[in-house]
Amino acid sequence: EAFDIVIHSGLIATAEMQFKGDLAIRDGRIAAVAERIAGGARRIDAGGRIVMPGGIEAHAHIAQESAAGVMTADDYYSGSVSAAFGGNSSFIPFAAQHRGQSIDEVLASYDARGARSVIDYSYHLIVSDPSEAVLTDQLPRAFARGITSFKVFTTYDLLNLGDAGMLDILTVARKHGAITMVHCENDAMVKWMNRQLAAQGLTAPKYHAISRPALAEEEAINRAIQLAKLVDTPLFIVHVSTPGGAEIVRREKFAGAKLFAETCPQYLALTREDLDRPGMDGAKYICSPPVRDRETQDALWHHVALGTFESVSSDHAPYRADETGKFGAGPDAPYPKIANGMPGIAMRLPYLFSEGVVGGRITLEQFVALTSTNAAKTFGCTAKGRIAPGMDADLAIWDAEEVWTATLADQHDNMDYTPFEGMEITGKPKLVMNRGAVIVEDGELKAREGQGRFFGRAPADLRGRGGVPLPEFDPARNFGVDPRA
Ligand code: URP
Ligand code: ZN
Ligand code: ZN
Ligand code: ZN
Repeated sequence: EAFDIVIHSGLIATAEMQFKGDLAIRDGRIAAVAERIAGGARRIDAGGRIVMPGGIEAHAHIAQESAAGVMTADDYYSGSVSAAFGGNSSFIPFAAQHRGQSIDEVLASYDARGARSVIDYSYHLIVSDPSEAVLTDQLPRAFARGITSFKVFTTYDLLNLGDAGMLDILTVARKHGAITMVHCENDAMVKWMNRQLAAQGLTAPKYHAISRPALAEEEAINRAIQLAKLVDTPLFIVHVSTPGGAEIVRREKFAGAKLFAETCPQYLALTREDLDRPGMDGAKYICSPPVRDRETQDALWHHVALGTFESVSSDHAPYRADETGKFGAGPDAPYPKIANGMPGIAMRLPYLFSEGVVGGRITLEQFVALTSTNAAKTFGCTAKGRIAPGMDADLAIWDAEEVWTATLADQHDNMDYTPFEGMEITGKPKLVMNRGAVIVEDGELKAREGQGRFFGRAPADLRGRGGVPLPEFDPARNFGVDPRA
């Protein structure tokens, strides 16, 4: 047999187009795409259903301790299984450096964790301690093994680098071609709000939302962009949750900044009213930046449709609603002591398909771009995210019409709740493949633990991005100084 698998009679969907046809796989890679392909050791009848690149989840916290030391409920097994049921063929969780740790030590530890994954995986590094050795020696070494993205924070005492630390990271990133991801919230504003609320005894979960105002995100997004422009190096704004933030991203992008951004389903689907559920139930909806209001949802959807965001990512940060997760500081903990984050890796694609494609807000092509192709370009996954000969056979077959109601059971994660519980969804991934191996089929897991492989990545694809090199980087031309003299 020339081909291991032929998927026939599909509606093949890419980020650029859709067409009826067949797709052949050999040795884990896409071998051919054509109107009709005969043969195949296995023939899969897509029956007119959609065949698209498997999702690439570019923002997930898996087997990761928060800055405060709380471990996520999902490890690389349960997290990757959940991702696979949600239509993903690969993911790029974070490998988090805690202060005092070397990057080599961090990566060795994550390599042991990642070995359990059922889908291909890579890491973004979280840098919290940019010492001289980290900047000059360890980050370049991480970059050399294909870890080409570094995440930094503007808030959380144990992670916040400050502007100067961020400039240091951006400078290393520039030198090696890495992309810097940034969590944007003005730390002083958040702390000030916390003090105002605490003084009035307002510590129920719902006050988390007001404690982190839209202005705090907008200010920090703007600042991070200016810092990146100073160094003329690519920046990725994670989890944009405000219309104001999205407007800044859009304006700067069109003014030529090397800028990328994402939003997340929770900011499109939930509001701060979810934080005001009875008892402590609101704690399940605590994440940072917080979910906001209806107008925000509408505005962010508008930006998703406009192309302001490269990706919609889950920010899967699974902390159970018990003492191992959300309530480590007690069942009635004040909101600043409740673990931040919510699960959603299995819902990202179904939610976006249902509300976006079926709901008429985005095209199928945009859906593929937002869930897979753009993440591959931004984060240098050169063998993934596209349907073309030679690419990894990372694919998903979707039934566009199946109507189902989201429940905890179909998340297949290690959580005790889903914030999407009860939502009616149209469209479901029926078969998911990673490098030609079927990993999920008709609601059943077909993969075994550890079958996913680590993949190194290339620098971001900066085609179509301007950038404005500053005079400081070219003293000879700009100041008439010969730097060699
Ligand atoms: O609340 C959140 N999003 N927790 C996860 C960590 C982060 O900042 O992305
Ligand atoms: Zn973040
Ligand atoms: Zn996150
Ligand atoms: Zn059907």
